[in-house]
Formats: sequence, C-alpha cells, structure tokens
Amino acid sequence: MKADRIYNFNAGPAALPLPVLEEIQESFLNFAGAGMSVTEISHRSKWFDDVINDAVARVKRILKLDDRFHVLFLQGGASMQFCMVPMNLLGAGDSADYVNTGTWSTKAIKEAKIQGKSINMVASTEDRNFSCIPQAISFSADAVYAHITSNNTIKGTHWAHFPETGGVPIVSDMSSDIFSRSLDIEKFGLIYAGAQKNMGPAGVCLVIIRDDLLARTPGDIPTMLRYTTYAEKNSMYNTPPCFAIYTVQLVLKWLEETIGGLDKMAELNRKKAGLLYDYMDQSGFYRGTAEKESRSLMNVTFRLPSEDLEKTFVAEAIKNGLGGLKGHRSVGGCRASIYNPTPLAAVEALVDFMKAFERKHG
Ligand SMILES: Cc1ncc(COP(=O)(O)O)c(C=O)c1O
Repeated sequence: MKADRIYNFNAGPAALPLPVLEEIQESFLNFAGAGMSVTEISHRSKWFDDVINDAVARVKRILKLDDRFHVLFLQGGASMQFCMVPMNLLGAGDSADYVNTGTWSTKAIKEAKIQGKSINMVASTEDRNFSCIPQAISFSADAVYAHITSNNTIKGTHWAHFPETGGVPIVSDMSSDIFSRSLDIEKFGLIYAGAQKNMGPAGVCLVIIRDDLLARTPGDIPTMLRYTTYAEKNSMYNTPPCFAIYTVQLVLKWLEETIGGLDKMAELNRKKAGLLYDYMDQSGFYRGTAEKESRSLMNVTFRLPSEDLEKTFVAEAIKNGLGGLKGHRSVGGCRASIYNPTPLAAVEALVDFMKAFERKHG
C-alpha cells in the first residue's frame, strides 16, 4: 500500500485497483498519444471508439456472452434501471415476477408499480429482516421475466445459487457483485449494474440484454429510455460518460490480465470473505447479521456488543488506516465492503485490527 493511502472498505463508490488509478494518472494529460486528456477527446474519435469497443469485448469475454447479448453503457445509475426494465419489457397484459430481498429490490418493485405494471411478488424475506435469501420459490410460467437482486449491498446477503425459474429469463440487479464470480448466462435475459462498486467510478451503468428481450422495447417510450437506442448506436446515441467507461475498460483489463479472469477472481473473493467470516464465527464479540447460507462475498455486515462500541470501532479503524466500515445509515452496525479491487492484504489488516480491538474492548 502507498504510504498516504488507506485501505478502503466503502460500499460505493468504492476502492479501485491501484494499478488502474496509476495508469489513469500516467496517461491523464496525453491519452494514447492524442496530446489531450481522455476527458477532453471527442466520443466520436477513433481513440474513444477503441476504448468503448475494448470495454464491450472484455465484458463479453469475461462473462462468456454469445452474440445474442448486447452490452450497453447507460447513465442514470442502477436506479434508472428500476424503471427502464418494466417500461421496456412489459407491454399490456404482460406480467413479471419479483423477489424482494431488501432495499434495492423494494425500490425496483416500487418503480414497476408506479407505471401500473402487473407485478407478482413471488417471495420476500422482509419478515426475516432481509437477513437471508428465500428458498423454493414458485415462479409464474407466464412471467416475461423474474427480477432478483443478486447481492444485497445493505444487508450483506447474496444468492449463492441462482434460482430455477422454469425457463423464465432472470433479470438481475448485479450492482454489487458483477464480475465477482462466473455465471450460467443461459439463465439470464438482462443484467444491470451501476459501475461504482465492482468495476469503475460512478456515472455509468452496464446493461447486458438478450435479443429476445431487446425486441420487446416499444417504440412509443422516450428515446433515451429505450434499450434499442443504445443497442443501435453502440451506446453513443448521445455523449456517453466517457471517463467512466474508460475506467471500466481498465478495471476489466486488470481483471483479465493481472488477476487472470473470473475464476481466479472468484477464488480470491471467497478467500477474502472466508477470512472475515471465519474470524467472526469464532469470536463471541462480533456478530454477523446475515444468515450463513446467504452471506455475501462482497459486503460483510456485522454488529458489536453495543452501538457505542461500534462508533469507537469505526473511529479507531480510521486511525489505523481502515476506512469506510460504518454500516448503511438505514441499518446501522458495521460493514466491510470487499469488492474485487480490495486486496487480500486489506482484509488481513482488517482482521488483525478486529482481533486487537476485541482484546482491548471484549
Ligand atoms: C444492489 C444495488 N442496486 C442499486 C443501487 C443503486 O445504484 P445507483 O446509485 O447507481 O442508482 C445500489 C447502490 O448502492 C445497489 O447496491
């Protein structure tokens, strides 16, 4: 770690790989020999074409997408997708299934309902304070899609296995675990993810959509809210978030070339999360808030014996070069977000700090 940097456990915007930040810094004033910064070049230039085409190619390669899938870069964050998904995919007489596993699913459901769309809430873990993922769900055979949130950033739960939907395409909000593990892509019709956790800075949202779902886009919704607008123009109908897409390209290059691909990334993520959970499980001092079989590999949520101790923990952690450990404001407690870019050394440093804190205050 560089002397003046800390280990960053923020939930999003979140840590980026140091080599990516350094590459951005190095080439910032003169990008690819253009004599201009990457933030100054035209999105209609050959330079930017190379950036976006390489980013798209890397997404396809990493997730093993075939030609049925389109890779789009949009603005408006993952929150915009809460409304765009039902707006584009559900026509008159259509319905979709939704599973409610926390704040973000709840928001997705709300946006579909605002539009008067027909939604079946097929499962919810609200009665268990969203501490787990539901099991044995009956999906509707005639649903156009089944919406899930693959990783629940606030409650620290994830779908360890994606559900069997009987062929109904899954639409998944993967904002906080995209590129963290490999997927059986056959199950998915649409994936969306805000970049600011696992793949870049805020300002761009990745959407992956399959041909048959793209074909459902109606012609009578606003141009900027139609998936086809982006698919037909390689995400450049209007000015795209160039700098954010460039950073995503570099993060994906780091994932492929430095880490060695998705399987290696997944192995490292399991190791990082395992270190934290194993330590917490044997400690009577820290208490994980998610049920074991639903535990997220990206957001590790936990409580200490009192709120006062939690405040002290977060404050002392910062003094020890460990930032971003406060839980989401809606739930309190503590949360360590350990996305792809968080190095193993950061998690080791956190566990060492947790041990020392327990010895002092336990
Ligand atoms: C799982 C999930 N979905 C959606 C969002 C909202 O994303 P955005 O701020 O990009 O709209 C977040 C933000 O934390 C999230 O964690």
